[in-house]
Amino acid sequence: MSTEGVNQSRRRFLVASTSVVGAMGVAAAAYPFVAYWQPSAKAQAAGAPVEVDISKLEPGQRMTVEWRGKPVWIVRRTKEILEALPTLNTTLRDPESAESLQPAYAKNPNRAIKDEYLVVVGICTHLGCSPNYVPLGEGGAALGSSWKGGFFCPCHGSRFDLAGRVFQGVPAPTNLTIPPYNYLSDTRILVGADKVEGAA
Ligand code: FES
Repeated sequence: MSTEGVNQSRRRFLVASTSVVGAMGVAAAAYPFVAYWQPSAKAQAAGAPVEVDISKLEPGQRMTVEWRGKPVWIVRRTKEILEALPTLNTTLRDPESAESLQPAYAKNPNRAIKDEYLVVVGICTHLGCSPNYVPLGEGGAALGSSWKGGFFCPCHGSRFDLAGRVFQGVPAPTNLTIPPYNYLSDTRILVGADKVEGAA
């Protein structure tokens, strides 16, 4: 091989090496931006907020999303459901939610930012089972004809109304927990982040 040939080969090698280093440099420069705006699975598990589209939720329906490894329920409450809630107060353990967990903006009679939508952690406050949703009119023999809709825990029989408030005479000590949340628009909720004062 001539000297000219060796030099040509070395030049090609150097050009190729520089290109590879250059590509790695671009990738390394891009990575911090990707890592910045995309929460890792670990960060999400640790509690990153979850955006939920509620536009398909029909009146009376419940949907479930996962936040911090827990189920969070969103129930679209009808006028009939909302009218029934105050009639239950005398049968509840903590009707004003004085002893229960909720953000200040959800410490009101319907335990919500907007009355139409209940957003609640679906974990029983007794020993942590996940109660069943039993809509209005579906209580059957077990829950009686006066059942106005709510949640029934199959583990030890705790019952909650459609504001997540616990009934008297059951093992659960407090109402279901309301998580932090806020509305991004009329049809999008961000579960896991507090309401910004002055927003919808
Ligand atoms: S865990 Fe729900 S009643 Fe015991």
